[in-house]
Parts: sequence; C-alpha cells; structure tokens
Amino acid sequence: MGYTRRDFLTRVGQIGGYGAAFSAMQTLGLMSAKGEQWKAIAAAPGVGKDTKVVVLGGGMGGLVAAYEMKLLGYDVTVLEARERPGGRVWTGRKGDKVEFVDGTTQTIDWSDGNYQNMGAGRIPSTHWTILKYCRDFKIPLEIEVNTTRSSLLQNDAANGGKPVTQRKVEGDTRGHVSELLAKCVVGGALDQDFSAEDKARMLTFLNSYGDLDKANKYVGGSRGLGRAGFKVPPGAGKQVGVNDDPMDMKTLLDENAWNGLLFTEEWAQQATMMQCVGGNDAIPYAFAKQLGPIVKYSSPVTAFKRTAKGVSVTYTQGGAEKNLEAQYCIVALPFEILKKIDNDLSPAFKSVVTGSVASGSYKIAWEARRFWEQDYNIYGGLSFLSQGPSPVWYPSANLMADTGVVVCGYMEEQGTPFWDLTLDQKFAASKANMEKLHPGCGPEMKKPIYVSWRQIKYNEASWIRSWGGGRAGYNIITEADGPYYFAGDTVSNVNAWMEGAALSAKRVVQTISDKVKSA
Ligand code: ALA
Repeated sequence: MGYTRRDFLTRVGQIGGYGAAFSAMQTLGLMSAKGEQWKAIAAAPGVGKDTKVVVLGGGMGGLVAAYEMKLLGYDVTVLEARERPGGRVWTGRKGDKVEFVDGTTQTIDWSDGNYQNMGAGRIPSTHWTILKYCRDFKIPLEIEVNTTRSSLLQNDAANGGKPVTQRKVEGDTRGHVSELLAKCVVGGALDQDFSAEDKARMLTFLNSYGDLDKANKYVGGSRGLGRAGFKVPPGAGKQVGVNDDPMDMKTLLDENAWNGLLFTEEWAQQATMMQCVGGNDAIPYAFAKQLGPIVKYSSPVTAFKRTAKGVSVTYTQGGAEKNLEAQYCIVALPFEILKKIDNDLSPAFKSVVTGSVASGSYKIAWEARRFWEQDYNIYGGLSFLSQGPSPVWYPSANLMADTGVVVCGYMEEQGTPFWDLTLDQKFAASKANMEKLHPGCGPEMKKPIYVSWRQIKYNEASWIRSWGGGRAGYNIITEADGPYYFAGDTVSNVNAWMEGAALSAKRVVQTISDKVKSA
C-alpha cells in the first residue's frame, strides 16, 4: 500500500503533536518557513563597561552602532558633522536648506505638511532589522505605494510618444505571450518536454494567465475583468465595460519600458513597502532621542590616528579643534568624506576607500496640485519615461490633500548629459517630462528642489558604486583594521538601504563585543 505524505504527516502529528507536524511540513517544503527574524547581539549585558568607543558619523550605520553599544554598557560617543542625525535618511520640509559643496543653496518653501524624503524613501517588508527598530520605537508606518497599474510608461520612440498605463502594458504583454506559448503547445513545438496531460494543464494555465478566449487567442481580455483597461468603463444602467483594443506585440516590444514594469519584482521592492508617517527621518530622530548627548552634532571629523591604547580623533566644534581618545573607532562615514580626512588606515584598507567609486543619484521634487490623483486616478506609485528625467514618484502620504510633493527625476546623473545642465535647465527637463505624461500640468509644478547627492555637503555620493579592489576590496573593509571597524550600507550587501546600514552596525558591535570579552 502506498504511503502518502499526508499519511506521514498525520502520523507525525499523532506522535509529536502539532509542533512536530508543523516542522515536518516545513522540512518537506509544504509550508512556507518563517521570514528572517531579528537576531539579538550575542553578548553579556554590560560587556562594554569601561570600554570607550567613538563612532564617526551619525547616519543610520553610526546611530544603530551607538544605540546597540549603549545598550551593552559601552562608553560611546558619535561625532556628526551636521546639526541633525540621519545622513541620507533626510526629509526635506519648509525652511530646510539643500547645501551643495560648491556653496549652492536651495531653501525649501513648500506648504506645511508637504515634504519629500530626499534620500531613503521606502522600507521593504523583508527588511526585518529596520522594521524591528521601528516597532521598538513605536514609529508609525504607512504604506509606500511602490507600484500601481494606473501609473504610466512612456517612450518617445514608441506609440507616437503617447504614455500607456502599466495596466495595459502588463495585461497586453501577458495576453500576447500566453497566446504565443499556447500556439507552440497546440502546434506540438513542446511535445518533447510535455506529456499530453502537461500540455492540457499548460493550456488551462495560459488561458487564465493571459485572459485568452476559447480559441486561445488574446483579444484584449475575455473574462470581462478589464485587466488591460477599458475603452468604455463599466457603469450604471446599460453601460457595460468595453475592453480597450490590445496594443500589438511589436509596439509593446518597442515600448522598451520593462525596467519600469519589472522593478517591483525585485526582492527589496516588492509590496508591501512602507514609509514613516510624516517622513522617514522619524527613524534617525528616534535613535537620536535614545542616544541623547551621546551624539555630538556640528562636529565634523578632521583626522584620526592610532595610539598605544586605541585611537585619537580630531574634530571641530564651533570653530574650535577638539580631540577624543577611545579604544575602538567605528568608521561610519561615506567613503567620499573619508577620502578627505587625514587618517592612518592601513594601506590595504586605504586603497579600498580611495579606489572606491561613488554613485550620484539625484531627485527633483516639485509641489503641485494633486493632478495625478484628481485627473488620472493615480494614487502613489511610479511612472517611467525612457528618455530624460525619470521616474515620476507620486506621494503615498496625505492622499486627497489639495497639493503634494512629486518627484520627476530620480536617477544616476554622472556621465549623462543631464550632469552638465544648469540648474534651470534641469528643472526645465524635469517639467518637460512631467508634461509628456500629464499634458497641461507642467505649469502647475512649482518650487522645485534638486537634491544632487554627489554634490551634497557631508555626503558627496548617493551610495557606493564600487569598492577599490572590487569584491576583494569589500572583503577587506568588512574586517577590522586594528582599532578601526567599518559600518554603514557601504559595508554590507544591502547597499543603498537603511537595512544594510543597520545590519553592518550590528555586526560590528558583535565583533567588538567578542573581542572585548576575550581580552
Ligand atoms: N534603496 C533605494 C531605493 O529604493 C536605492 O530607491
């Protein structure tokens, strides 16, 4: 007699109870395993007592490291160049200044309540570490709408430059691809791979997946679901929905907008995405509150060197040069800033820093009437253009308010013609692209702010593009260099995310604590 998996599980359940059956099901791959969970730092309480640590930089990496060290009893100090915590986890609001290294300064003048996350803009549900801190600090989160089928894809070279909804591109592409594959299955092209039963099941799947008709043809949807949109929407009385005419496959291929359509397929971009109510700087400010006077603001580091007992760090505060001695130093500075600081890192470590290449993503944000909501039924999400500033990132916060802040242009600018434009030309390009998606709305866009991370004082990079020495360089920088330990998203495999900064910071606290314990 056959012995099925079900029989097996029933027996396991009878013998070992629910828990045993549950683990057995996980082992057999029948139930999803739990997601990644927070792992506490394995160190005895008070392990850091009498150990002095200095943290260079009060961005996410530095703040998390200092917070975890404080919990373990270390005598920790954070030196932060700015008058605020958070580094790139920065929310721009009325009165805030955007300062470039060349002295260019823009002052935000949006209405109260309108804001833009200039750097970190979204938190994936899979970033358990940063979410754990949000939970612990009771930071209210809301949904960041990372995609909507109502948003648009546009390419000057396709469809006469006319934007198309993501709904249409997604629905029509699925339909066409399913029809083609169904044709192959029916025509016998896959007979070598599929049994008759598999073929039948495949056709059932394709018919449903692509919304095909009974003859397995895609005619814009056959189930009345409007997956690819309606030319006449369903309404009251006799008004039934009439499917939009399908775009042909060739146009869809020309549209070349796949990156836009597919970016939320990435693990870190998939729904559910979140953001902090009122701005993501709630996270660094929550850490700063926990740390209190541990963080010294307006204290840019100018030099650091080894001593017999650890390190000596020089910084300035209110124009005066100051000095701080510690046993350990956590370097949580952007590499572009580290490059300019007099230091005695070992040659191998120094070359990872000096040879690193910075990314230079920018954002251009505008205040406007919520024309995307009121005129286009777009609530949050992103639209993508194939030429010029892209994407358009619509606000997820304060839906239905009269005005909002919308981004038009968030991309790498170095090595592109955009980099060489004047500020006014950049604003004009951004506005022109919005006009392509939402004709007539360009003039409603007001008070633009250009945040060019490559030019932002105390960052000079949006994130790292490559380490000096490449991957081998990364492996070096994740190790300790005498008293120096590196933290920040730059020193993680979750680059350009708060999670990477937090994970690297926790790792460093663990490493130092292991060392302190064994000393
Ligand atoms: N983490 C950054 C983003 O989501 C790069 O845009």
